[in-house]
Parts: sequence; structure tokens; C-alpha cells
Amino acid sequence: MAPSSRPNKPLGTIVIAIDGPAGAGKSTIAKALSKRLHFSYLDTGAMYRALTLKALRQKISLGNEAALVTLAQETTIDLRTETDQGLHIFLDGEDVTTAIRSLEVTNNTFYIARAPQVRAMMVEWQRAIGSRHNIVVEGRDVGTVVFPQATYKFYLDADFKERSQRRILELKAQKKVFDEDVLKKELQERDHKDMTRSVGPLKQAADAVRIDSTHLTIEQVIEKIWQVVKNHGQAVHP
Ligand code: DC
Repeated sequence: MAPSSRPNKPLGTIVIAIDGPAGAGKSTIAKALSKRLHFSYLDTGAMYRALTLKALRQKISLGNEAALVTLAQETTIDLRTETDQGLHIFLDGEDVTTAIRSLEVTNNTFYIARAPQVRAMMVEWQRAIGSRHNIVVEGRDVGTVVFPQATYKFYLDADFKERSQRRILELKAQKKVFDEDVLKKELQERDHKDMTRSVGPLKQAADAVRIDSTHLTIEQVIEKIWQVVKNHGQAVHP
């Protein structure tokens, strides 16, 4: 996997890691926080999704790790923040921001996520980005594996019922057709796979601050994070 073509910027020193299960609000919070801090934003899940999309398109056997490694080596994933349009994901130069959110991609990402050598490449690439920018990074293994020395670590969680409800509302807003019971089952399975894989499983880092967003608004979560960041962060300026 080739690193992004974005130009090198001055070395970043602050990494804010946000991990947690699907639907806990990581993306919304990480995006808002990075905007408030004028930090870069890295959605690590988007990288796993982009490679999954390519594997599906090329009809590669997803259980064949060697094939996935070869595929990753031949792939360029680029994340760019477009003015006022948020983060855009480019797969070999093609904007796949919308395509990587399909249910098919969502339900097949675990193949890429469980492959140790592919994960190692992803982690290397994510570290390269993190060393160049002050950055908010969200994912599953950011505080535990990718940036164990992150300046700040948060583990964002919410009750399963609340998380599945958020997903349902999100998909309805996108006018997607789906069965709610199937979606809940898939979310449960994804949580299980994320938490039990042998490499980079989802778990709270020992030094992460846990935030339960079940009964909190986005602003309340950001405020909680802000209280931690501003108390410690000499170099963090909103
Ligand atoms: O954050 P997301 O739901 O878009 O991530 C999609 C999948 O990618 C998730 O189910 C597991 C995988 N993933 C991962 O293994 N490690 C990460 N750091 C981020 C995502």
C-alpha cells in the first residue's frame, strides 16, 4: 500500500485517539473535534473499508490473506479534507467516499481487519500520517496499537440499543433500504468480530478515558473531551 500523495507538513506532536464500537459516535465527535482544534482527521475504518471495496470489485477471495497482502501492496489510499465537504477517501485516485459505506462493504470489512499482515501495513501508514500532523484519529486499535503513546486517548461507548438506533436513523436518512432486525444482528456480529480478533482487537486502552455517550448529545461528548484536552494541552489551541 502506497502512502498518500499529500505533501509532507511539519511534524505534528499531538495525537488524540478515539476508539470504540460502531455507532458510538466516533466519527461525528472526531470530525467536530478536529475542526474545533484545527487538527487533521484520520478515519482509520475508511482505510479498511476502501481496501475491502477493491477486493470485492476484483472478486478476490477474501479468506486468502496472501492475495489481500498483494492487493494492499498495489493499492493507494488517500484521505483528503475537502473544504466544507469533510473527509474524502480516494482509492487509487477514485473518490470512493460514498461507495465504502455500502452494507456489502460494511459486512465484509472484517476479512481485511483480521489479516495480520494487512493490518501491519495499515498501522504503518497511519503512523506515518500521525507523525506529520496534529491529528484526531478514530478507529478500533488507535490507542492500543497504532498510537500507544498518543497524547490523549478516549474510548467512546454507548448501549447496544442506542448504537443500533443511531445506525438505523443514519441509514434511513440516507434513504437506504434495509431490515432493522438484520441490521441489529449484523452490528452485534461486527462488534463481536472487532472485539475478538487476534490482531488489533477493539478494547479500551488502560490509560484511555471512557465516555459513555448513551445519554449524551454530541456537544456534551465534545465538552467532556475538551475538558481533558484543555487541562493538559499546552499546545492545543481551539
Ligand atoms: O469505523 P468503521 O465502522 O467505518 O470501521 C469499519 C471496520 O473496519 C470495523 O468494523 C473494523 C475495521 N477497523 C479496524 O479493524 N481497525 C480500525 N482501526 C478501524 C476499523
